[in-house]
Amino acid sequence: MSGALGTVRVVGTGLVGTSLALALRAKGVDTVLWDPSPSAVALSRDLGAGRFAAADDEVALVVVAAPPDVVADVVASELATHPQAVVTDVASVKAQPLRQLTARGVDVSRYVGGHPLAGRERSGAVAARADLFTGRPWVLTPAASTDPEAVELVRRVVELTGAVVTQMPADEHDEAVAVVSHVPQVAASLVAARLREVPEPSVALAGQGLRDVTRIAASDPQLWTQILAGNAAAVARALHALRDDLDVVIAAVDALGADSGAEAPGARAAVARVVAAGNEGHARIPGKHGSAPTAYTPVVVLVPDRPGELARLLQAVGDAGVNLEDLRLEHSEGRPMALAEIDVLPAAAAGLAGSLRAGGWTVHL
Ligand SMILES: NC(=O)c1ccc[n+]([C@@H]2O[C@H](COP(=O)([O-])OP(=O)(O)OC[C@H]3O[C@@H](n4cnc5c(N)ncnc54)[C@H](O)[C@@H]3O)[C@@H](O)[C@H]2O)c1
Repeated sequence: MSGALGTVRVVGTGLVGTSLALALRAKGVDTVLWDPSPSAVALSRDLGAGRFAAADDEVALVVVAAPPDVVADVVASELATHPQAVVTDVASVKAQPLRQLTARGVDVSRYVGGHPLAGRERSGAVAARADLFTGRPWVLTPAASTDPEAVELVRRVVELTGAVVTQMPADEHDEAVAVVSHVPQVAASLVAARLREVPEPSVALAGQGLRDVTRIAASDPQLWTQILAGNAAAVARALHALRDDLDVVIAAVDALGADSGAEAPGARAAVARVVAAGNEGHARIPGKHGSAPTAYTPVVVLVPDRPGELARLLQAVGDAGVNLEDLRLEHSEGRPMALAEIDVLPAAAAGLAGSLRAGGWTVHL
C-alpha cells in the first residue's frame, strides 16, 4: 500500500497531524514529520507517527495540520518546496485559505483543501489517537482548477484512516460547519460560562444533560478564536438566527413568569414549539459511523462504586450477546453508586435487561 502511495509529509504534528500520521503508519504508509516546535515533532516521532523529515525526502503528499491562521502561508511554501507533491490541509475553515492562496496568485492545481470532522478538546500530539478519524466525515473542498488526480490521491490517503470522504465547494463547507460545529462551540461555551456565577452546591447538582451540552466547552480558546474568525460571516449568520430563536423563548418565558396572574395566551405553545423543533433537528443527526439516525434504547443499571464493578457489568453485557452502542456514566453526589446508561438497539433492550437482572444487577428500563 505504502509503495503505491509514496511518502506522506505531515507539517504540524499536534493532535490532528499526529493522529493522521499514526493512522497512516498503521496501514504501512511511510510518513515524515515536521513542526516548528522541536518538542512537538520529537513527541510525535516517539509515539510512532513517523520519522523526522529530511531535505531529500521524496514526498507524494504533504498534509498541513497547522493552526488555521498560518495554513495559507504553509500550503504556499510546501507547494513551492515540493513541486511534484500534492498538498492538502486539515484546517476547520476552507474558503479563507483558498481565497488567500488565489489572491496571491498561487497555482492551486496541486492543492486540495480538506477537513476531518473529528477532533478532541485537547491539543498536541499527547492527545493523538490513531482511530480519531474512524467512521468520521472528512470533507475535501477542491477548487475548480484543482487537478482531479490530486483529489484522487488525497481521497485514497484519507480513506486509509477509516474516514468517510465527501466533497463539496469550500463556501458550502463553511456554511455547513458554521451550523454543525462552530455555533455548537459558541453555545457550549456560553452555557458553561454561566456556571462561573453559580454557587458550589448548585453546580454539584450537575447531571448528564449539562455534561452533554458543555463537553466541548473545554476546547482551546486560541484555536477556536482562529476558527470563528476564519468563518466569521457564516458564523454570524447562524448566530443571528439563533438569537432570533432565543428572543422568542425569552419573550415566552417572560410572559409565563410575569406576576400579573393572567398567563399570556400562546406562551406555553411557543415554548412547546421550541422543544418540538429541537426534537426534529436532533432526529436528523446521523448515527454512529455516519449511518442513518438510530434511536437507541437506554438500559439503566446501578453500579456499586467499587473497583472492578464496571468491568463486571461490561462483561455481563458481552455475555448477553448484546452490542453496546453507547455508554454514559453518571455519579450522584454523595452516593456510593453510579448509574450506567447503556444504549442498545431497541430490539435488544428487554433481553439485556432480563439477563442483567438474572445476574443480580438492578436494572431500570
Ligand atoms: N482540534 C480539533 O478538534 C480539530 C478538528 C479538525 C481540524 N482541526 C484543524 O487541525 C489543525 C491543527 O489543529 P490541532 O488541533 O492539531 O492543533 P495542535 O495545537 O494540537 O497542533 C498544531 C501544531 O501546528 C504546529 N504549528 C504552529 N505553527 C506552525 C507552522 N507555521 N507550520 C507548521 N506547523 C505549525 C504547532 O507547533 C502544533 O504542533 C487546525 O488547522 C485545526 O483547525 C482541528
